[in-house]
Amino acid sequence: MKLHHKRILVTSALPYANGQIHIGHMVEYIQTDIWVRFQRMQNHEIYYVGADDTHGTPIMLRAQAENITPQELIDRVWHEHKKDFDDFFISFDHYGSTNAPENKTLSEEIYKSLRSADLIEKKSIEQAYDPVKGMFLPDRFIKGECPKCHAKDQYGDSCEKCGSTYAPTDLLNPYSVVSGATPIKKSSEHYFFKLSDPRCEAFLRDWTQVKTPLQVEARNKMKEWVGEIGESKLSNWDISRDEPYFGFEIPDAPGKYFYVWLDAPIGYLASFQALCQRLNLNFSEWVSPDSPTEMYHFIGKDILYFHTLFWPATLHFSNYRTPTNVFAHGFLTVDGEKMSKSRGTFITASSFIASGLNPEWLRYYFAAKLNASLEDLDLNLQDFTARVNSDLLGKYINIASRSSGFLVKRFDGVIAPAALNHSLIATLKAASPEIAALYEQREFGKAQRSIMELADQVNIYVDTNKPWEIAKKLGTDPDADTSQRLQDVCSITLEAFRILSIYLKPVLPELAKQVESFLNIAPLEWSSVDVSLTQDNVIQPYKHLMSRVDPQLIDTLIEANKSAPSEAS
Ligand code: MSP
Ligand code: ZN
Repeated sequence: MKLHHKRILVTSALPYANGQIHIGHMVEYIQTDIWVRFQRMQNHEIYYVGADDTHGTPIMLRAQAENITPQELIDRVWHEHKKDFDDFFISFDHYGSTNAPENKTLSEEIYKSLRSADLIEKKSIEQAYDPVKGMFLPDRFIKGECPKCHAKDQYGDSCEKCGSTYAPTDLLNPYSVVSGATPIKKSSEHYFFKLSDPRCEAFLRDWTQVKTPLQVEARNKMKEWVGEIGESKLSNWDISRDEPYFGFEIPDAPGKYFYVWLDAPIGYLASFQALCQRLNLNFSEWVSPDSPTEMYHFIGKDILYFHTLFWPATLHFSNYRTPTNVFAHGFLTVDGEKMSKSRGTFITASSFIASGLNPEWLRYYFAAKLNASLEDLDLNLQDFTARVNSDLLGKYINIASRSSGFLVKRFDGVIAPAALNHSLIATLKAASPEIAALYEQREFGKAQRSIMELADQVNIYVDTNKPWEIAKKLGTDPDADTSQRLQDVCSITLEAFRILSIYLKPVLPELAKQVESFLNIAPLEWSSVDVSLTQDNVIQPYKHLMSRVDPQLIDTLIEANKSAPSEAS
């Protein structure tokens, strides 16, 4: 019986459909997946959905550059992304697309609700326009000369050469990245979500500062953005873009499209709705304002603003439930620096697999580095090799390979249940609530450290009891007591290995499957801690469970990413 049965919807941010998944993205999908798998092991009712984020100017232009339609581009990329996620065992219950019909319907409906609530206004604004290409230019599509140091080809917000920051209008000799033409100013009518409305301000102050247990760093940022009572720091949010644009047309506004960030988070709900249809779940029960269910979004710290201001306001004022919480993580660096194509550290997920590296190595390494804060984390390639080899192979896998042989050879794989009433096993089992709490709080690094400390204790037990010496003695002097001792020591060791495998299963799901067949046991759940191996679990001959990281593989990986075709992140 489950005493505390939760109903949880979990999402990861939706990756843009104009680039490949890289190991920076993977931090997020692995973090979310570990948490989801942990919750599944607790027997909660939990659904994990994702989707590709398919709309916007970069995707439209990328398709044009490849001479294909945006639809063809996003279809192709969807399959690439899906394969990457499958390869890393990211266990989405549904993986959709923001270009899905359900998302169009939901986006229109939500927009109309906001309009009825008098939270949409129209206003004419002036923007940069490419007169040759015939389109408005987002800031990142305009370059020019730095007003300070006159470096050429700088973006509209800051100079890479001298580091000064300025407004796009300050650029000297600006040009459109799309056509090279000099941008002109042109005005057009835009649709705004009136975030400055006192109702929004009041709601957001309450939602970010009182109602939601946001991470401290996140809450403080929001406090700055929302401002003090009556200060009204929020400005209205421009949610429309003019054609040509790849996206959904705004109802009753021909030629105007929803800005990609309006329909992207709605894609979370649309993807879940598609899952509800498949599993026959009651969608409206999950998304209504008073829903008893929980909803969590895992995101990177760069998109906090969208998820803790725009998104909850959008939901609240269109009469949907708001997120239970938003969990932001930091950014990945490689060897202490930003991922870089020239150094070969802009590592794509597919190159990782193609170079022959085991995805569970990366899952473990990220788990060992992750915590619940917004701090950045570093993939140090030397440390990666050392850590995986010493922890996973040296401490954990080693336990199984050291003791199962004797049990299979001398006792037909049958364990001695009476021996399991042992202080080592009791210690391992007693750690369960603490490790569970660490997973629950997303303190994965601390959880892995606790697990490895337990593995250390098991190895000390094996080193002290030396099953290989008992076996040797048994060979020269067969005697019932010695035989029993050998069976006991091996049984205790394998039971210990089983318990460690439970604790590692959220991180190493594929390995756990192999362990389950090796130990001849049902799929491990968290409550499997409360039972033990029995004589029915005839241990199978040990098969190689995981290899060591060969440092050469890392060289191959870096080389592969040096020669990879240049690609936007
Ligand atoms: N499409 C938006 C999200 C829309 S959600 C409604 C987007 N896409 S993204 O492809 O740029 O990023 C997807 C996720 O990966 C984001 O949460 C982002 O923070 C995360 N990461 C991208 N690069 C990363 C690192 N180098 N390190 C850690 N996370 C990174 O943003
Ligand atoms: Zn400059």
